[in-house]
This record gives sequence, C-alpha cells and structure tokens, in this order.
Amino acid sequence: MLCLGIETSCDETSIAVVKGGSRILSNVVASSAELHSKYGGVIPEIASRMHLEAILPVFKSAIDRSGVSAGDIELICAVNRPGLIPALLVGFSFAKALSVYLERPLVAVDHIIAHLYAPFLSEKETPVMPFIGLIVSGGHTNLYLVKDWGDITLLGKTKDDAAGEALDKAAKLLGMGYPGGPIIDKLSIGIEPNDTFPAYMPKDNFDFSYSGLKTSLYYFLKKKEFVPENEKKQICADYQYAVVKPLIERAFKAAEAYNTKAIVFGGGVSANTLMRSIAEKRAEGIGGVKVFFPPLNLCMDNAAMVAGLGWHWNKIYGPASLSEDVHTNFLARAA
Ligand code: KG4
Ligand code: ZN
Repeated sequence: MLCLGIETSCDETSIAVVKGGSRILSNVVASSAELHSKYGGVIPEIASRMHLEAILPVFKSAIDRSGVSAGDIELICAVNRPGLIPALLVGFSFAKALSVYLERPLVAVDHIIAHLYAPFLSEKETPVMPFIGLIVSGGHTNLYLVKDWGDITLLGKTKDDAAGEALDKAAKLLGMGYPGGPIIDKLSIGIEPNDTFPAYMPKDNFDFSYSGLKTSLYYFLKKKEFVPENEKKQICADYQYAVVKPLIERAFKAAEAYNTKAIVFGGGVSANTLMRSIAEKRAEGIGGVKVFFPPLNLCMDNAAMVAGLGWHWNKIYGPASLSEDVHTNFLARAA
C-alpha cells in the first residue's frame, strides 16, 4: 500500500511517500529552524506561516521524487497531535482536503509515537516486540512500553522541561545558538565529562526532571564573570552528561523491569553522540538487550515515520473521520 505521510507539528514541513510501512520512496523536509534561531526557540506564528508557504512545494517535490503520481496514493497519514496547534492545523487541513480530493482514507497520527517508528524504516535489523521506547525531543521526554503498535503504555515522562529543551536552554545561557542540542553535542566530542551538574533520578518511578539542572547551570555561570572557550567545552560536556545519564538509566531499568530485549530511541536528541555511545556500550556490557537508534536523517521530525506508523494504525484502528480535529487523542477514542 502506498502511504503519504504529512508532518507539520513544529518547525519542519515534511511530506513522504512510503510503501508498505517500510520502503521510503521519498521523504522531503523543509525546516524553518534558522528563522527561529535569533529568538532561542520556535515562534509558533513564524512556524505556521512557513508551513503555509512550504506545504504545496514540499508535496509536489515528495510526489516527484517518489516516482509515483498523486493518484496512486492509497492512504493519507497526517500528524494531528501533539504539537503547535496553528502548525498542526496547516498539515492536517491539507491532509483532509487531499483525502476528499483524492477520495482516499485519512489516518490521524500521534507524532511522538511516530518517532518510535523511525528505526523500523532502516534497512538494517529492526527491533523485536515488546520493546522499551524512549522519545527525547525538544518538547517531550516520554518512556513507553510497546507490546504492539496498538498496545502502547506510557511508563514515565518529564515533570517539567524536556531533555532537548534543557539542552536548548543551556545553549542560550552559554550565549550559543539554537537549536542547542547539536551545538553542545559537537563541542563536547572528545571531552571526558565530569559529574559537575546534578542528574535527577528518583528510584521509585520512570519520570524525568530537567528544570533543576538548568537552574544549576544558571547559578554556576552567574558566579563566573567570563567563561573561556576551553572551559565552555567542558561545561557543555558535563551538562550534556547530566542530561543523558538519566535517559540511559531509565531506559535500561525499564527494559529489565518489563523483560524486553530491545530499547528504541527516537526524537531529535537521539542523534546525540554521547547518548548513542553510552547506550551501545551499556548494551554490549550486559548482553541480551539491543539498542536501536534511527538513522540520523530520521531522528528529527519527518513524514516517513508518520506514513510508516499510519499504515499500521489504519490496519488496527481504521481511518479517521473528516471531523477529526488537531490535538484530539484519536487513540483514547479508539480504545
Ligand atoms: O524531535 P525534534 O526534531 O522536534 C521536536 O519534536 O521537538 O527534536 C528537536 C530537539 C531540539 O531540542 C534539539 O536541540 C535536539 O532535538 N537535538 C539534539 C541533537 N540534534 C537535535 N540534542 C542533542 N544532540 C543532538 N545531536
Ligand atoms: Zn518530534
């Protein structure tokens, strides 16, 4: 089945054509990240206007690159939650119009769950179910137990800031650009991290918290008049370590508690070099548990993962009605 994916939850306008839930024929991503960099975060109004400008050219490009024609599309899978409401509205309304015009069913997809699908689009080995899924992005830090694409339980989430947000805010405090995650990642490469900053890790649940970490960096920097470049790199490495440590601890603890053989990482922060290397070493060290990261181009928001998950959700839940809205929990109603 040929599925069209549409993703406009934040600052990426993405449309993809995916065959049978795994073969990517095209995956076009246009990002407005650069326009937000001077504000240190995404401005919903700017992001939404850019989606309006980009959606038609991105659609045309995705169809051209796929080698199929729009009329060959059999299913339309579009993100309707979670994300910025005016941004979601652009993509989801476009999807509804296309669904009416092409007379094809529409599936409403949760973009966070779709991140868990990214490693399943890889040509390498794919994870076995059940697995533990950890989505780490600019807006979410969610830990899931996935028994099946129709049986997904949220085990824990952040109580305040998301891990990506903690990195973005740290970069802002250090006077660096946006998004902060990739900048901090690059600056920290080759530097041995120290336990300078506190990592939040309660023993009795699977939740996360990053607001205290950000505050500790704020007071750490406040005491200093000037931070030389070399010291900045060490601060980045130490801070990044405090962000990554609880993510790895929680994911492996959950894999042990629920006896799963795979851990799937997804979302923008899953591109992180330190996180990948610690997780891979830990999995090698204990044996029996495999870790899966998406290919780098599928870590950030993209429509291929949306089309992939949408293909399964159509089989499990059937298509959405045209009265489906953005931000409604399709899953909760389908249950
Ligand atoms: O999933 P995503 O593209 O969008 C959201 O749904 O939020 O994730 C964006 C987040 C940003 O916070 C960015 O700083 C972070 O992912 N990020 C990284 C890296 N690349 C992107 N964080 C750490 N290391 C990276 N290499
Ligand atoms: Zn995302």
